[in-house]
Amino acid sequence: MRIAVVGATGMVGRVMLQVLEERNFPITEIIPVASERSVGKTIEYRGKEYKIVSMQDAVETRADIAIFSAGGETSKQWAPKFAEVGTTVIDNSSAWRMDPDKPLIVPEINADILTKEDKIIANPNCSTIQLVMVLNPLHIKYGVKRVVVSTYQSVTGTGKDAVEQLNGEIEGRDVAKVYPYQIFKNALPHCDVFDEETGYTKEELKLTKEPRKIMRVEEMNITATAVRVPIQGGHSESVNIEFENDFNLADVRKLLSEQDGVTLQDNPDTNTYPMAFYSEGKDDVFVGRIRRDLSQPNTLNCWIVADNLRKGAATNAVQIAEYLVKNNLVG
Ligand SMILES: NC(=O)c1ccc[n+]([C@@H]2O[C@H](COP(=O)([O-])OP(=O)(O)OC[C@H]3O[C@@H](n4cnc5c(N)ncnc54)[C@H](OP(=O)(O)O)[C@@H]3O)[C@@H](O)[C@H]2O)c1
Repeated sequence: MRIAVVGATGMVGRVMLQVLEERNFPITEIIPVASERSVGKTIEYRGKEYKIVSMQDAVETRADIAIFSAGGETSKQWAPKFAEVGTTVIDNSSAWRMDPDKPLIVPEINADILTKEDKIIANPNCSTIQLVMVLNPLHIKYGVKRVVVSTYQSVTGTGKDAVEQLNGEIEGRDVAKVYPYQIFKNALPHCDVFDEETGYTKEELKLTKEPRKIMRVEEMNITATAVRVPIQGGHSESVNIEFENDFNLADVRKLLSEQDGVTLQDNPDTNTYPMAFYSEGKDDVFVGRIRRDLSQPNTLNCWIVADNLRKGAATNAVQIAEYLVKNNLVG
């Protein structure tokens, strides 16, 4: 496969190159792409230096797959141009996720809908991916009725400039602000921009809409509050799930421990629970603090953590690419 990595110099792009290498993705040529600012600079892949090329030059390579993580505007403008020359685009931005003609994929859940005709495939939002990895197996067994999710999101989710803001503030350096306020020693109830009509942020709205599309359920109600916190390891989520049917806690734990890509960390006796610090650099989604909501029937509380740059972005995208290759859906 000839693979273009668009946004190769960014937070997600760099992890993308790492994940492609670790998983031994069958690459014959890697084409790193970034903005005009980076064209001509080099980037390392498998111990070799590769020159970063422009978007137009990348289109002309007619790569088999282009994995985009370069922002929504870049995707809107360029993904169709890659698709036109026959390249399959896997896009990490929010540009195409809710487009009814574009599949939104978490491979463990709905890769079966992919066909050779899908030339732009959307990767879900990072907070959505870790949520649906836990919701989906529970939904199949008990029927999810309503979800209340509050997130504690890593600055790596905003990109390299946000990491620089946090590190600069920790070290007392004067740095450019990506967030409207200091993030060090703070918690901002503000991820992405505000939606004028509803008062929610775009991140919160993504969390309410994307799971329904991925899990193929119309009637599931989700409400979200997304909070940015001064950590780098991964995103954490406090999740309250009301089911149609009652459940048994031991069965819930068994179900989640059997789910591919999910690791159960749930033992209060040994202080075992998921933490952002431990999720960093790992591909799995971690779930724990599983307990009944004592305030109403058929309702569960849990705590879900994942590295937003791995399963929340790069790993999920590479798994989609692996599925395409394995099922002859590309090229
Ligand atoms: N961070 C996450 O956890 C996460 C998770 C899921 C999805 N995403 C999505 O992934 C995308 C990138 O996020 P990030 O966190 O990696 O951001 P980032 O660290 O700021 O990196 C942005 C990348 O996009 C490139 N880029 C910017 N403008 C471009 C243009 N006009 N043409 C070509 N390349 C351009 C940058 O190149 P230069 O270095 O040349 O500027 C850089 O490689 C965003 O759409 C984001 O929503 C991020």
